[in-house]
Amino acid sequence: MPPQPDGRLRIAIDGPAGAGKSTVAKEVARRLGISYLDTGAMYRAAAWLALRFGIGLTDADSIANLLEQKPPRFTCDHDGNMEVYWSGERITEVLRTPEVSEAVSALSAHPRIRQILTSWQSEYGDEHDVVMDGRDIGTVVLPNAEVKVFLTADLKERAARRANELTRKGLTTSTEEMALAIEKRDAHDTGRTIAPLRQAPDAHRIDSTGRSVEEVVDSILSLVPWEYSS
Ligand code: CDP
Repeated sequence: MPPQPDGRLRIAIDGPAGAGKSTVAKEVARRLGISYLDTGAMYRAAAWLALRFGIGLTDADSIANLLEQKPPRFTCDHDGNMEVYWSGERITEVLRTPEVSEAVSALSAHPRIRQILTSWQSEYGDEHDVVMDGRDIGTVVLPNAEVKVFLTADLKERAARRANELTRKGLTTSTEEMALAIEKRDAHDTGRTIAPLRQAPDAHRIDSTGRSVEEVVDSILSLVPWEYSS
């Protein structure tokens, strides 16, 4: 796609859980010196708020009200780092716990919550050069992104990566348990009516099974039009 009139570079990376989106998105952003926005962290922040305040996951309106009245703060630097704060508390790490992962899919299917978060994300894309990862970035949030990628990997490998990630953080889980959890979440994300997990027709499909982060990052960087390389 040729550069658009605003001259911005937006890279959309979508795909199922554990495909390696955030690791590669962060590195692509770092290599290009642009922002990285993890939209999953935004949905996770909404789920964390629900758990924190004991709000039922079906009570989307109360969660949406809280998001609007006291929004989490998302900060991005130009080195691929993103942090999440709520009321002065840094919540970046706690958003990755299994409790939040378990809760997030149910809540991310609610129209009002999606509408709030999607509008924050689109606004960010209007104002910044950014690598954004999620489920509906190429289809809904940034339909005119200059580069779109759909990143996949075998379920077994995705589950093993996720289990290792949690083990490194001192939480115990098996690859089998993880495979069940992410399969369930993917089914939920793919089956919902609003903004389901889908490959955009103009997205490049990259399978990261058995490939290093470096290789996947290089494949994505090779899709960036030459006009954007400094
Ligand atoms: O890192 P991982 O692939 O496990 O998930 P994530 O990107 O942190 O997203 C967590 C959940 O948020 C997903 O399972 C979706 O339910 C939801 N999500 C979404 O609906 N739309 C997005 N753009 C990003 C995440």
